[in-house]
Amino acid sequence: MAILVTGGVGFIGSHTVVELQNAGYDVVILDNLCNASPKVIDRIEAITGKKAPFYKVDIRDRKGLEEIFAKEKIDSCIHFAGLKAVGESVQKPLEYYDNNISGTLTLLEVMRENGCKNIIFSSSATVYGDPAFVPITEECPKGVCTNPYGWTKSMLEQIMTDMQKADPEWNVVLLRYFNPIGAHKSGTMGENPNGIPNNLMPYITQVAVGIREELGVFGNDYDTPDGTGVRDYIHVVDLALGHVKALKKIEENAGLSIYNLGTGQGYSVLEVVHNFEEASGVKIPYSIRPRREGDIATCYADASKAKAELGWEAQYGIKEMCEDSWRWQKNNPNGYDE
Ligand code: NAD
Ligand code: WQD
Repeated sequence: MAILVTGGVGFIGSHTVVELQNAGYDVVILDNLCNASPKVIDRIEAITGKKAPFYKVDIRDRKGLEEIFAKEKIDSCIHFAGLKAVGESVQKPLEYYDNNISGTLTLLEVMRENGCKNIIFSSSATVYGDPAFVPITEECPKGVCTNPYGWTKSMLEQIMTDMQKADPEWNVVLLRYFNPIGAHKSGTMGENPNGIPNNLMPYITQVAVGIREELGVFGNDYDTPDGTGVRDYIHVVDLALGHVKALKKIEENAGLSIYNLGTGQGYSVLEVVHNFEEASGVKIPYSIRPRREGDIATCYADASKAKAELGWEAQYGIKEMCEDSWRWQKNNPNGYDE
């Protein structure tokens, strides 16, 4: 039996495929490559020595999905496929709702038709909105999202919760990621944003490698120790390992489970910059800019539930996250492009 990994060529998906294969699972990869390079598939194979069947299929393509289920013996699905650019989602809400929500509904329907009722879903700390308290536990009420991307995560959580309630044969694990950064130790796989990076770490690494001149720090007047935003950065390999552990819940027929995947430790923008400078030996010029719309001051996890119930805990600290992000960018200044 195999695990279907949708979005398995993307940043988090590719690292998860590696850890699943390392743990002995058979993996089938699906991706429409709208935000990923096919070269990733060879890089995965070079690391693990294992070839996973790959299908270039869109999750909104019912026929394409049905063909995969007819050909492969799929037991569970880890569902990463989705659009994730916050700013773009404000400009293109219908495209985001269509891709993320219609796509997931089609996937769930085809899974059900084929008797496959096990899913691990990529959710996000964004569902907490401006969190009612920190550190954020899973009991923290879901909040008001500031963009359509965030709403797709919040709505899909609700859809899968309702689905599991109506049919308890489903096992659903909702994983709420905090801020994934870092890259594979080999330096051959990492984050590969299109155009100007939206997120902090890829922006920093592109400044370090000379693609961008300076980092803009979005606000230094937040109610935080140095005034810049505080986030819970988590190494992508730790996140990947969280999915391997989450499969245990599926194997136990646990019904619906929700976990935060973070380190529990917050770092400010300037702390990340300083840690990166130390890890890389490269100075990062920056200037203070106005606050970015929709940003919150502080967001970090209470990750104790995942430790207690999954036996999962982040192993890597900010130093390794910076070192590994840097190794990836330095070795691949243009990402997966030559
Ligand atoms: P990514 O863009 O690198 O990976 C997503 C993959 O899904 C891409 O390879 C893309 O080509 C594919 N995809 C998109 N729409 C598709 C469709 N309709 N059919 C088939 N494939 C499709 O992003 P990522 O950072 O690896 O994120 C993976 C998941 O985790 C996403 O659902 C994202 O929303 C979620 N997430 C990401 C973060 C983050 O900061 N990176 C944080 C929280 C949650
Ligand atoms: C981190 C901090 C910025 C860029 C986003 C999504 C969230 C989730 C993870 C998917 C903030 C500051 C950033 C820059 C900066 N994704 N910053 N200059 O906003 O916490 O979360 O990615 O689910 O939904 O919203 O991450 O990396 O964009 O920002 O000063 O050029 O860095 O203001 O304080 P964020 P981020």
